[in-house]
Amino acid sequence: MSDGEFGPLSVPRRMLLGPGPTNVHPRVLRAMSTPITGYLDSAYFEILEEISEMLQIIYQTRQTTMVVAASGSGGMEAGLNSLIERGDKVIMCSYGHFCDRMIEMAGRLGAEVVSVRSEWGRAMDPALLADAISANPDVKLVTAIHAETSAGVLQPLEELSRLTHEAGALFLVDMVTSLAGAEVRFDDWEIDYAYSGPQKCLAGPPGLSPVAVSDTALDYVRNRATKPSSWYLDIDLISRYWGPEHVHHHTSPVSMMFGLREALAMALEEGVDNRIKRHAHTAAGLRAGLNALGLNLPVPAAERLDQLTVIEVPAGIDDNAVRQQILNEYAIEIGRGLGEFKGNKWRIGLMGESCQPQNVLAVLAAFERVLPLHGFEVAAGAGVAAASIELGKHEIPVP
Ligand SMILES: Cc1ncc(COP(=O)(O)O)c(C=O)c1O
Repeated sequence: MSDGEFGPLSVPRRMLLGPGPTNVHPRVLRAMSTPITGYLDSAYFEILEEISEMLQIIYQTRQTTMVVAASGSGGMEAGLNSLIERGDKVIMCSYGHFCDRMIEMAGRLGAEVVSVRSEWGRAMDPALLADAISANPDVKLVTAIHAETSAGVLQPLEELSRLTHEAGALFLVDMVTSLAGAEVRFDDWEIDYAYSGPQKCLAGPPGLSPVAVSDTALDYVRNRATKPSSWYLDIDLISRYWGPEHVHHHTSPVSMMFGLREALAMALEEGVDNRIKRHAHTAAGLRAGLNALGLNLPVPAAERLDQLTVIEVPAGIDDNAVRQQILNEYAIEIGRGLGEFKGNKWRIGLMGESCQPQNVLAVLAAFERVLPLHGFEVAAGAGVAAASIELGKHEIPVP
């Protein structure tokens, strides 16, 4: 290949209905093309302060918020790296693929991991945590995932938090898929560390992790006996850059922060409660359509996410072939199953900018044509018709 052959960047347009990233509003994309400032420029610090303030509103906290310059897994690792010392006992609630990722990370940090495993596709019974705490009263940290994207389940947190604090431990929660798509009350639920990702219900660029940290957790990191093993993911050092002293740490990804800033502003302009309702009403439309096509939604109604719907791949159907055909012919991305759900579940995300009624109709129309070609008969038009009726029950304003 000669030097001149590459030409301008060319990427196909997609309707992103997988587990993230989601589509992003042009206003967010425009913000990302704003000229770059220095990361120690006072004008940039003002933007960081805005981001931090907007995150306090969205996380519902008066405590510290900031952004880790790494993806959601980076926010996960920053929390574990900062709150675990080698040999600490950590109880890790596990009901999906991302819970397993946390367990892997904690093991690598030298924690003594006690994993409390429960069924994928179901919320975990807090009694399991109570039992694990009675058997391990010296626990230092408990971890959970609010919205397990791999399993499509919303995990209630209040009881887990109560049990954790009764045992004198800290409570770390993954809110990658829940933030701005489900109710989040960081202070009321007494969470000590939460991390998220902009690429889901916030509809921002992937590759960052907005976090919230309690005063107790920050005190702990600042006074722990040994320094966290990762310098880059040390929450204390990152908080000192985001705090009033703005201590130099790393070169901040300025363009990404501009995009996140705009995505947060859009979420607040819409109103977080309205955005949560938009997720609920749009998902109800999708579920009505899928039910009308005779597809099985395995997560019980009271436990399922609105942001992401898990669908059983019908017996004898090639999961990958269907997804590829929908991608190639309709430019719609839907998600594959992970871990225990690999090959036997599809996952349709309706998050952030991708959470729109017309996207529901488009993906159902694609299913209606493609599924029969692979041997699963459906009544043509039934999914779109049922979804239209359900979607028509509410006004769903999309900003
Ligand atoms: C619940 C959950 N946690 C963590 C992650 C990891 O985030 P990232 O891919 O941004 O590292 C994801 C990604 O989908 C997720 O859904």
